Amino acid sequence: MISKNVLVTGGAGYIGSHACKALKAAGYTPIAYDNCSTGWEEAVKFGPLVKADLMDQAALKETFERYQPIAIMHFAALSQVGESMQEPGRYWRENVTGALNLVEAAVEAKCFNFVFSSTCATYGDQDNVVLDEDSVQLPINAYGASKKAIEGILQDFGTANGLRHMIFRYFNVAGADPDAEVGEFHQPETHLIPLMLDAVDGKRDALTIFGTDYDTADGTCIRDYVHVCDLVDAHVLGLKWLLDGKGNRIFNLGTGDGFSVREVINHSRAITNREVPYVEGARRAGDCTKLVSGSNRAVSELGWEPKRSNLHAMISDAWRWHQNVANHYKK
Ligand code: UFG
Repeated sequence: MISKNVLVTGGAGYIGSHACKALKAAGYTPIAYDNCSTGWEEAVKFGPLVKADLMDQAALKETFERYQPIAIMHFAALSQVGESMQEPGRYWRENVTGALNLVEAAVEAKCFNFVFSSTCATYGDQDNVVLDEDSVQLPINAYGASKKAIEGILQDFGTANGLRHMIFRYFNVAGADPDAEVGEFHQPETHLIPLMLDAVDGKRDALTIFGTDYDTADGTCIRDYVHVCDLVDAHVLGLKWLLDGKGNRIFNLGTGDGFSVREVINHSRAITNREVPYVEGARRAGDCTKLVSGSNRAVSELGWEPKRSNLHAMISDAWRWHQNVANHYKK
């Protein structure tokens, strides 16, 4: 029988665990490869876990030999913009070397289908520029720069070794599995919506709005939020695209609608029936004013149909998960 195994690096993490669920639903077997430094063993519910590091080349080789995956979805990475400004060396070393080790192991094992989790942070902060897949990439933080470098690795191994790649540049991923089997839980948490929900139910002090003097209508940053379930659906479509031999392609994953930090806060009242305690603080280093996708290529070419990427569904699903998380992840 032909393997339907897919190697999912970061499969114990937020997006990776949702990808594993979507892959299983689509008839694949997700093999989660994760060192569990920021992910959760309890999140690996849809296939086996290989608990290992991308720096461990022997473990990578053994994993390819054992599971013979038909493809890779690569999510494992350090992913905090602010942290990347403080510790750029870690971002360059772990993200870029980890990806390089993975790509080399894949080529060695003749596994040539690679779906990569990239980011809109590779575009940087470009005023009044429509961000589509052909936009120039000018990252302003080490996180975005490390992801841009990995895109380059994939292109080079494509040319030299025939590695087929699908690059997804995400905008802001939010929400959780509506069944609350998996969801977002970082320690420490850095993302707006989970921090806001923590503040709403008293798990932490007030949310700090990072900057109220941006050049936007209400002074706060604007982001394009996409539901994690829609995002991973695109990955399954991307996998099929590669397996069908349609070739290398880059897709933005965002809705094209931007919301400010204040709009997100205001919307949450309708869902939680509570006020968000917040204070207005200074800008966070590395933040762009506005990041909104200007492309619908994923919809027109890939057949992607975002279903839950509206603020209401994203905050509602995150809130449901937030109230359940203690029953799932215990560290
Ligand atoms: N924000 C606050 N207070 C907080 C946390 C966030 O005001 O306590 C603001 C940020 O300044 C930003 C917005 O809320 O304007 C969203 O911040 P997140 O930390 O939730 O997300 P980022 O926009 O920093 O990061 C996300 C993804 C990255 C991606 C990046 C592009 O997590 O993978 O968008 O900038 F690269």
